[in-house]
Amino acid sequence: MTTEPSLPTGLAAWKALETHHERIAKHHLRDLFANDPDRTQRMTFDAVGLTADFSKHLVDSQILTSLVELAHQAEAMFEGARINVSEDRSVLHTALRLPRDATLVVDGVDVVAEVHETLDRLASFADEIRSGAWKGATGRPIRNTINIGIGGSDLGPVMAHEALLAYSRRDLHFRFVSNVDTTDLQEAIGDLDPAETLFVVASKTFATLETMTNASAARDWIVKALGSDSVAKHFVAVSTNEERVKAFGIDPDHMFGFWDWVGGRYSMDSAIGLSIMIAIGPERFREMLAGFHAMDEHFRSTPFEQNLPVLMGMLSVWYRNFFGVQSAAVIPYAQYLNRFPAYLQQLTMESNGKRVTAGGSPVSGDTGPVFWGEPGTNGQHSFFQLLHQGTTAIPVDLIGFAMSPQGERQDLLMANMLAQARALAFGKTAEEVQAEGTDPAIVPHRVMPGNRPTTVIMARVLDPYRLGTLVALYEHSVFTQGTVWGIDSFDQWGVELGKTLAVQIAPMLKGEQEPAFDTSTNSLIERYLALQKETS
Ligand code: F6P
Repeated sequence: MTTEPSLPTGLAAWKALETHHERIAKHHLRDLFANDPDRTQRMTFDAVGLTADFSKHLVDSQILTSLVELAHQAEAMFEGARINVSEDRSVLHTALRLPRDATLVVDGVDVVAEVHETLDRLASFADEIRSGAWKGATGRPIRNTINIGIGGSDLGPVMAHEALLAYSRRDLHFRFVSNVDTTDLQEAIGDLDPAETLFVVASKTFATLETMTNASAARDWIVKALGSDSVAKHFVAVSTNEERVKAFGIDPDHMFGFWDWVGGRYSMDSAIGLSIMIAIGPERFREMLAGFHAMDEHFRSTPFEQNLPVLMGMLSVWYRNFFGVQSAAVIPYAQYLNRFPAYLQQLTMESNGKRVTAGGSPVSGDTGPVFWGEPGTNGQHSFFQLLHQGTTAIPVDLIGFAMSPQGERQDLLMANMLAQARALAFGKTAEEVQAEGTDPAIVPHRVMPGNRPTTVIMARVLDPYRLGTLVALYEHSVFTQGTVWGIDSFDQWGVELGKTLAVQIAPMLKGEQEPAFDTSTNSLIERYLALQKETS
């Protein structure tokens, strides 16, 4: 019996790309630039305040045309299947950033009205905290906000909080607790006064082990210091699950809801962003939503040939499926984007790290690559060696800004970004190294092969609006890739088994149950117990 391949390898555009791959593999970016002086002009696109230069990719105009054709053909093939099939949920995070006067009716309900009603409640709460009108149990205003959440209920808030620090209230302090490791919470609260501390318990399900464990410990800390009546003044919840919020002891009046149709990793622009809103204020938060929406509109209405997320997504498909690359990196040249790579790791890998199609059959080729990164220039002094001279080619996104929110030393930072993009693309030949009078024995070590693809994304300044556009750019790029691969980019079943096993193993580590797994797991449990008994 022959099975149909799940990847659209039979499509004409896919076949054309196979031929293009054979052809382009014989070229170096040096020839592509030498033979095509207009390529940068043709392959640089501006949209909603972002500029993306795709010219340092292993493509030419024919290849870009075939990639766009593949996107069209794949889109037609999967039309109507673009929902979260395996969880039977709609996918509507773009509704979170629709303007107030828009309408989107789902099952008879105008979700835009609901979104803005929640945004208004969030805004009044954020204003109360920012103005000091909201008082803790002892009558003191709140100065510390601690977001307790994990995955999408942590990474978006912490990433955006850091990204937008320049726009934040510096007299208010923000911390983010995610790890079930007790040190995470202890370090976050250690130097704080409970009377001035607010916990935002952020969990879509309100059932996540790490979050509920940390939230209970935080509640104990507050109750011990301020008494059991103080919970109402020091805890708010962000969730879709009112019953569980109530059971935890948080009044539903202090709960901010969102909807089943918002996936965890797509939720930073929902109520999950409450701590961001407290930090930057409702107006700036709305600017961020406007940035998301601008990119949504660009994605929805711009022809694929000039559509940033489509082009980015299709380049990712190009490298993954035709060059067999295993990983992709993002290097923001902005320290404020320190947590952006971690944020994108969940977005990209939880979405597209799939081995079966949306219909449940095994995929016939590679899907999402490993995604990783660190801010430049720090990365240059650690792993860039491998990017330049290692045996593995890794496409890199370099993100930079023309202005720093702090106003100094931007030229030096950007000089580094542009230098890296140039060095990765063009390298340095043996002849060039020799011409510098290098010892012949050292020449091979100093040759830089180049031909390593990058996208340079630039914007004027990192602000709430541009952050929104950047996040939405990656969201839609991930969606584009998932569409070509025919997978469900909105579920995450792969994380479940580990959660179940951890619950089974926990009592064994307390010595309450005998280990009952494989020999390795059993032996590690026994060694853990033995190590605990050692005296030093
Ligand atoms: O375990 C993975 C996951 O479900 C993520 O998708 C999600 O962002 C995270 O856990 C947190 O879930 P919740 O918001 O329900 O606590």
